[in-house]
Amino acid sequence: MPLAKFEIMLKRTMGLDIQSIGRPMLERALQERQGHCGVDDLDAYWLLLQMSEPEQLQLIESVIVPETWFFRNREAFQEMVQLQQRWPRLINSSQPLRILSLPCSTGEEPYSIAMALLDAGVPPQHFQIDAIDISPQSLHVARQAVYGKNSFRGEFLSFRDRYFALNEQGYALSETVRQQVRFSQSNLFAYDLLMGEAPYDIIFCRNLLIYFDRPTQHAAVTLLTQRLAPEGLMFVGPAESALMMLHELTPIKAPMAFAFRQGPPKQEIVKTAAAPATVYPQPTPRLRPASNASISRTASSNAKPADANPAAQLSQASLDKVRLLADQGKLEQAAALCEQYIKQHGASAAAYYLMGVIHDAADRKQAAADCYRKALYLEPTHADAMTHLAALLQIQGDLAGARLLQQRARRSTENNQS
Ligand SMILES: C[S@@+](CC[C@H](N)C(=O)[O-])C[C@H]1O[C@@H](n2cnc3c(N)ncnc32)[C@H](O)[C@@H]1O
Repeated sequence: MPLAKFEIMLKRTMGLDIQSIGRPMLERALQERQGHCGVDDLDAYWLLLQMSEPEQLQLIESVIVPETWFFRNREAFQEMVQLQQRWPRLINSSQPLRILSLPCSTGEEPYSIAMALLDAGVPPQHFQIDAIDISPQSLHVARQAVYGKNSFRGEFLSFRDRYFALNEQGYALSETVRQQVRFSQSNLFAYDLLMGEAPYDIIFCRNLLIYFDRPTQHAAVTLLTQRLAPEGLMFVGPAESALMMLHELTPIKAPMAFAFRQGPPKQEIVKTAAAPATVYPQPTPRLRPASNASISRTASSNAKPADANPAAQLSQASLDKVRLLADQGKLEQAAALCEQYIKQHGASAAAYYLMGVIHDAADRKQAAADCYRKALYLEPTHADAMTHLAALLQIQGDLAGARLLQQRARRSTENNQS
C-alpha cells in the first residue's frame, strides 16, 4: 500500500492518526504536494520528502485542521477567570500567571484567554501567555491578528467591539491584547519543547488529542502534565475529557469547561460531609443516585456521611479499586471488576458511568455510549454521564444530539449548585 509509509511518517513526526481526518484528505494532500514539487509519482515524492525538512513541514501544513474561533467553548474561559479565587497567591504576587495555549492554531484561543482575563480586571503585567503550534502558516495569521467573519461565531460577540477595529483586511486586534501573547512554532513532540521553561499554571490543549491514536494521546497528556504546575489546570476539548481520567487528572466542577486539575480525586472530600462547596469537586464516580448524590451539599440535612455507613464504605472501596486499575491503564481488569461490582451490588449510575469511562478509554465508543445511557436511565441528572455521552455524539457527527445533552448537563449542574 503506497500510502502506508506516508501515514507512518505523519504519525511519527506529528502524532497524526490518519483515520481521524480520513484517507481521502491524505490522498488530496499528497497529490497537491506532488504537483507543487513537480515530481512524477508518489515514490519520487517520497524520496524528496526524505531529503527535505521544509517539504515535510509543507506536507504537515496540508493535513492539519486549523479550525478555531474566538471563545470556542465559552465555559472554559468563564471558568478560567475564576482563577482569582483559585490562585490569589499568583494574581497578587510579582510572578505573572503562566498560561500555555498548545495548539494555538491561528491565535483565536490565546487571544480569547487574554481578552477574558483583561475583561475580568486582571492587570496585563499579571499574566503571560505562550502560544505554540506546529504550523508556520497558522502562526503567521496569528501574528498578523487580523480576522475574518469565520473567527467570530455564536451570539456573544460584544468583545469584538471592545478589542477589534474594522479595516479593509478584516477585524484588527488591539495592541493591548496582542502584547499578552508570545507565539512560537514547535511540534508538541519536539525533544526540546519548552526546554528551560517554568511550569504553567494553566494549559489549554484543546482539539488536538482527537487527531491522535490512543498511545499517542497518552504520550501527549504525559508530556503536558509534566509541564503543568502542581496546582495548575488543564483545559481540553469536549471530545477529549474521558482520556484525562486515566492520567491522575480530576475534572473540576464546571462540566462544560472540560478543565482538569493534577492528582487523583480528593477522597477526603467524599468522606467529609461538611466539605465546603467551593473546594475542588467531589470526585466521580458518585456512589449514590440523584436524590442523595450531593452529600457534601446537604451537610446540614439528614443525609448520613459516607463513613458512617459500612455498606457505602464497601461500595466505595470496590469502585475505588476499579478506578485505580483504570488509572493504571489496566482497562480490561478494571472493566471486569466493574462488571463484578454491578453483579454484586446491582445496577447503579456510578458504576455504569465508570464502566463508560473505561470503555471510552479503551476506544470502545459504542459500549461506552451504552453505559452512559444506562447511567442516565438510573440517574437522569448525572451531568458527567451527559457530558461524556455528548462528546461521543459529537465525534459521531450527531451535533444536535450533543448540543441537547450539553444543555441538559448545564441545567443539571446549575440545579445541583442552587
Ligand atoms: C483544530 S486546531 C485547535 C486549535 C485550538 N486549540 C482550538 O481548540 O480551537 C488543531 C491545531 O493543532 C495543530 N497541531 C497538529 N499537530 C500538532 C503537533 N504535533 N504539535 C503542535 N501542534 C499541532 C495544528 O496545526 C492545528 O492548528
